[in-house]
Amino acid sequence: MTEQIQLETRDRVLHITFNRPDKKNALTHAMYARIVEAMRAAEDDEGVRAILFTGAGDAFTSGNDLADFRDTPPLGDDAPVTQFLQCLISARKPLVMAVNGIAVGVGLTMLLHADIVYAAEAAVLQAPFVDLALVPEAGSSLLLPQRVGHARAAEIFMLGKKVGAAEAYDMGMVSRVLKADELMPAAVKAAAALAKKAPRSLMLTKQLMRGDTAVVAARMAQEGKLFGEQLTSPEVLEAIMAFMQKREPNFG
Ligand code: COA
Repeated sequence: MTEQIQLETRDRVLHITFNRPDKKNALTHAMYARIVEAMRAAEDDEGVRAILFTGAGDAFTSGNDLADFRDTPPLGDDAPVTQFLQCLISARKPLVMAVNGIAVGVGLTMLLHADIVYAAEAAVLQAPFVDLALVPEAGSSLLLPQRVGHARAAEIFMLGKKVGAAEAYDMGMVSRVLKADELMPAAVKAAAALAKKAPRSLMLTKQLMRGDTAVVAARMAQEGKLFGEQLTSPEVLEAIMAFMQKREPNFG
């Protein structure tokens, strides 16, 4: 079976590729678990100096697999998705993200934990948590308003507004916008450059730039509690059923 998470270390950069293109790289529990294992190993591996995420095919990731949300709701600290988000918050090594296409849900919120985000011109960012009757996750209810301001964050979270690459750049959500064929070479080059820098200096700089991550972790825990409560609610089930049946949800 083809690996749904491809892992490769080259030039001291761990490449993590979401590889489920037929489902727009929707992330399952098993995929999160594999990423967590790789990120934890990378933290302890002096041979890895940076981590580069991208997606196979035309999507970065369409976010959490909605069938998993419905069938086996990820609840609590042991859920692979929670552990993945904790890995993002606690990452000491630089994270580079090459957003090659649509980035939905966690596909957007993970970018708020990245250091360098390169987006292809066709990339579209979307966080339709309210459309799914959910709440934001990954500390994004704190980080996104900080990054782009409350008014623009509200359009993204509450209206589920899609943000194109150029607008995401203007809002400070991505570092650069590139032509499709220039995206990976630029991301690989940036990650390789980071991998050659003095590692301790880089880690300390990242730590200083990110500030007090305990505040983000506390918000993430608060979001996680509410997210878990919503996940088993009738309105979420209706939203997921509507997606599966390719129709508009009816929240009554
Ligand atoms: N979970 C499960 N399956 C998903 C998925 C997800 N998050 N995102 C896409 N898929 C599946 C679709 O059901 C479809 O499967 P099918 O071919 O068996 O019908 C396939 O991937 C392709 O998706 P499709 O919707 O046909 O592609 P598109 O280009 O028209 O739209 C998206 C792409 C990402 C905009 C759309 O699929 C979408 O909105 N997905 C849900 C995103 C979401 O809500 N994520 C959770 C956020 S918390």
